[in-house]
Amino acid sequence: RHSPHPDIAEVLVSSDEIAAKIVELAARVDADYAGREILLVGVLKGAVMVMADLSRALTVPLTMEFMAVSSYGSSTSSSGVVRILKDLDRSIEGRDVLVVEDIIDSGLTLSWLLKNLRSRGPASLEVLALFRKPEAVTVDVDVRYVGFDLPGAFVVGYGLDYSEYYRTLPFVGTLTPAAIERGAPA
Ligand code: PRP
Ligand code: MN
Ligand code: MG
Repeated sequence: RHSPHPDIAEVLVSSDEIAAKIVELAARVDADYAGREILLVGVLKGAVMVMADLSRALTVPLTMEFMAVSSYGSSTSSSGVVRILKDLDRSIEGRDVLVVEDIIDSGLTLSWLLKNLRSRGPASLEVLALFRKPEAVTVDVDVRYVGFDLPGAFVVGYGLDYSEYYRTLPFVGTLTPAAIERGAPA
C-alpha cells in the first residue's frame, strides 16, 4: 500500500477512524452535558481540527473560546514551563468548561492549564483530548474524554505539527527519517 503522503512513513490513525471517534465522543459529551451549555476552550494551534469537527458534531448549546500557550524548551518535547500567548476573551466563572486538546504528550501543558483555569472559578472543568501518548500517565491530569492512545513515536497530522508543518494532513502518522531530517515538506 502506498503512503498517502511522501513524508509519511506509516498512518497510525486514518481520517475515517478519526471521524468515527469524533462522532462517538460528541455523543458522550452531548449526553453528559444535556440541559446545560458548554464553553469549549480550544488550545491553539494543535486543537483547531478537533475543535472544528467536534463542535459541529455536538448538539448541546455551546460557545467557543481559544487560548494559545507556549511551553519553553525544545520543539518536540515540553518542559512544563508555560506562558500564555493569547488568553481567553471572556470570564469562565460559573461556566461549564470543556478544554479541547489534540494530544497529551507529557501532560505538562494541560496540568498547568487546568490549574490556571480552575483558579478562574468555572462551574465545571473537564478535558477532551483526541490523542494521548504513553508518557501522559506520569502526570496526574484527569482527562474525561480520550479518543486514541498512541505509541510513543513522534506523530503529525490532524492538528499535530512538526516545526509547524503537516497540521492539515487528515490522518495521523509517523514521519519518514528523511522528512524529519529536512524539517519541512519537500
Ligand atoms: C502540543 C500539543 C499539546 C501539547 C502536548 O502543542 O498540541 O498542546 O504540545 O504536550 P505536553 O502534554 O507534553 O505538554 P505545542 O506546544 O506543540 O503547540 P501547538 O499546539 O501550536 O503545536
Ligand atoms: Mn498544542
Ligand atoms: Mg506543536
